[in-house]
Amino acid sequence: METNNTEARKIILSGIQPSGKLTLGSYLGAIKNWVRLSDNYDCYFMMADMHAITVRQEPATLRKTVLEQIAEYIACGLDPDSCALFIQSQVPAHAELSWVLSCYTMFGELSRMTQFKDKSTKHTENINAGLFTYPALMAADILLYQADLVPVGDDQKQHVEICRDIAQRFNGVYGDTFKIPEPFIPKVGARIMSLQEPTMKMSKSDTTAGGCVYLLDSPDELMRAFKRAVTDSDTEIRYDPAEKPGVSNLMQIYSSVTDKSFPEIEAEFAGKGYGAFKSTVGEAVVETLRPIREKTEELFANKDYLAEIYRAGAQKAGYAANKTLRKVYKRVGFVQ
Ligand code: TYM
Repeated sequence: METNNTEARKIILSGIQPSGKLTLGSYLGAIKNWVRLSDNYDCYFMMADMHAITVRQEPATLRKTVLEQIAEYIACGLDPDSCALFIQSQVPAHAELSWVLSCYTMFGELSRMTQFKDKSTKHTENINAGLFTYPALMAADILLYQADLVPVGDDQKQHVEICRDIAQRFNGVYGDTFKIPEPFIPKVGARIMSLQEPTMKMSKSDTTAGGCVYLLDSPDELMRAFKRAVTDSDTEIRYDPAEKPGVSNLMQIYSSVTDKSFPEIEAEFAGKGYGAFKSTVGEAVVETLRPIREKTEELFANKDYLAEIYRAGAQKAGYAANKTLRKVYKRVGFVQ
């Protein structure tokens, strides 16, 4: 990706819901790529706390998770001096643009969203309007910053696509207002599966013991989860997600943390059993996450420093977001 100092740099926006602890999936599918891309873009990374309340959250836990998430973003390698790291609810333009965009978002397209269908099946007692209009808020998150690129895992692709549709619809009515963003989905690691049920996505809300591993898990917890990971009844280490979902998932994880290709991994483990394979993958994950865990613990202890970061982040984000919001308000005819 080129950097050209004479032209405005391209922009990245992404975020994660602080609805639970960050998982290995959120790291490999999203944050790892944010870090990789961050040198060459102007970056905005947020804690999507407004999205998190579409499912009931315990207030004290939400507060703690948001702070922990900022520490984790920095510990993963994002530089708070060059990236705006901010809390979504501290930039009111998100809620404001979201309302406008929800008036340009169709009931039919929202009804087709996989995440809405999944969550409304899981939380039948709380199918609230926010859960349904969630994609309009996510579109606001992205379009406020005129983002060129949105690095996400595979499961968020549909939300970036609806964001593009909403932006195109708005631009079609009022003239060029929003940049049309592209999703950035990694070739390896875009869909990390549960270690216990490898046909299901690894998710923050997974309650199956050992199915989900977290960024802050201890080396012992990680090794236990990898040693118990579900594989299959033969012994061959081969990439074949349809026939061998467990082994293929472990290969994805190993490839993502070591940068080895699938043929290299197959050659490395030819003739070796699943036991050795699972331990090696576990050890590679432990070594990747060890510095992240240690640095997060150190940063999390310094709440004043974290507050400085998110306040500065909200100021920088708010400045960019309000520019777009003012333009939108003018375009739709709100009195200035
Ligand atoms: P969320 O919080 O569910 O997930 C955060 C990011 O991690 C990726 N991810 C995964 N990638 C690979 N394998 C997995 N098992 C896995 N689990 C999660 C997700 O794809 C995502 O990139 N709606 C978003 C948050 C959001 C957002 C935004 C993202 C709010 N506004 C604007 C981008 C731009 C969400 O629920 O992600």
